[in-house]
Amino acid sequence: MDPPFATGTRRRGRTARDRFEDRWPSREAHLDLMRRVLAEAHRVLRPTGSVLVHCDFRSCHHLWLELERRFGEANAVNHLVWSYGLGGSGPRSFARKHDDILFFARSERYWFEAPMVPSRSRRMAGAPKKATDVLEIPAINNMAFERCGWPTQKPLALLEVLVGACCPPGGVVLDPFCGSGTTLVAAARLGRRAIGFDASPRAIELATARLREFDGASAQRARASAAAAAPGVGSPSPSTRASRSRSRRVASSRSAATTLR
Ligand SMILES: C[S@@+](CC[C@H](N)C(=O)[O-])C[C@H]1O[C@@H](n2cnc3c(N)ncnc32)[C@H](O)[C@@H]1O
Repeated sequence: MDPPFATGTRRRGRTARDRFEDRWPSREAHLDLMRRVLAEAHRVLRPTGSVLVHCDFRSCHHLWLELERRFGEANAVNHLVWSYGLGGSGPRSFARKHDDILFFARSERYWFEAPMVPSRSRRMAGAPKKATDVLEIPAINNMAFERCGWPTQKPLALLEVLVGACCPPGGVVLDPFCGSGTTLVAAARLGRRAIGFDASPRAIELATARLREFDGASAQRARASAAAAAPGVGSPSPSTRASRSRSRRVASSRSAATTLR
C-alpha cells in the first residue's frame, strides 16, 4: 500500500483533476487513518500474506512502530529502500533519492519468492541475482509511456518486483490507496488478482482505464497467438481461454475499486 506521505502539501498531477490533498491537521490524524487501515489489513490477510507500506522519512519511523504493534516485532521482514535516482536537490539537505517500504508478514508462514534482478557487477555481467533490500529502479520520467498524470504514480517495474515476491500466482493483492492503479496493473500482468480502493473518483477512473488497456492488450496478444498456432480453427485455443479467464480476474479487480471512508 502506498498511502499519502503526510507531506503537508496538495499533490498535483498533469491536469487540475489529477490531485489529492496530503495536508493533515496533525501527525496524529495521519497516524489515526494508518492505524485503522493496518488493523483492517491485519484482519483480512491470510496467514501466508504480508503487508508492504510505502512511505518516506517523514512517517517511516512512526509507521514501523505501528506495524510492530499490530503485526508483532517477530513478523518484521525488511525495511526496503527504493532508490529512484531522479528528483531535485535542495541547498540545505542531502539530495533525497529514496523512499522506504516496510515489509511485515502476517505470520511465520508468509509466502515469499526472492525476486531476481540483473547483476551490476562486471564479473557477473548482467546475470540474474537475488534482489537485495535496496531496489534500484528509476522513477517514472515525465515522458515515460506509462505515465498517466496522477501525482506520485509509482513505476510498474517496482510494483512487479514487490507483487511477484510477496503474492503467489493466483493470490489476491489489496491496495487500499491504489491511486492510478499501478499495483493492480502489476498484479494483473503477473497473473494475480487485485482489489483497489481510493478516496478520489479521478484515481479510480485512471486505474480503471489502465486495467482496461491491459485487458485489451492481453486479449489482442492471445488472439494473435491463437491465430498463429491454429489458423482457421474456430474454437478458442488454451492460451485464448487462459487469457479470457485472466481478463475476468482483472474485471473483478475493476468492479471492486471503490473508496475507503
Ligand atoms: C501516494 S498516492 C498512491 C499512488 C499510487 N501508488 C500510484 O501508483 O498511482 C496515495 C493515494 O491515496 C489516496 N487517498 C488519500 N486519502 C485516502 C483515504 N482516506 N482512503 C483511500 N485513499 C486515500 C489518494 O487519493 C492517492 O491516490
